[in-house]
Amino acid sequence: MYTGIDCISLNRSFGNPPLEILKSINFQIPKGQFVSVTGRSGSGKSTLLYALSGLDKITSGKVLFSGESIHDMPEIRIPF
Ligand SMILES: Nc1ncnc2c1ncn2[C@@H]1O[C@H](COP(=O)(O)OP(=O)(O)O)[C@@H](O)[C@H]1O
Ligand SMILES: [Mg+2]
Repeated sequence: MYTGIDCISLNRSFGNPPLEILKSINFQIPKGQFVSVTGRSGSGKSTLLYALSGLDKITSGKVLFSGESIHDMPEIRIPF
């Protein structure tokens, strides 16, 4: 089990026909690591952070916090 954030084949699209903003995103961030997200305006930074934090739904893929899929957690659960 990976200790940290594990982003696996993350996809997020909006609308119909789908506008694909995040396409097959894969990375890991170890627990305790500080990282920054950079990119031009409109590149999908906020969409990525909403997906990683569970503030918004994702289209497909997984976001694991220390092995646990955050989008499969019950809504009342606070994982911190
Ligand atoms: N709720 C939404 N519905 C439709 N399109 C969206 C929505 N949220 C973001 N987008 C689109 O996704 C793209 C990335 O937006 P965003 O994640 O806010 O970029 P950034 O934060 O890097 O400036 C933009 O083209 C934006 O218009
Ligand atoms: Mg933004």
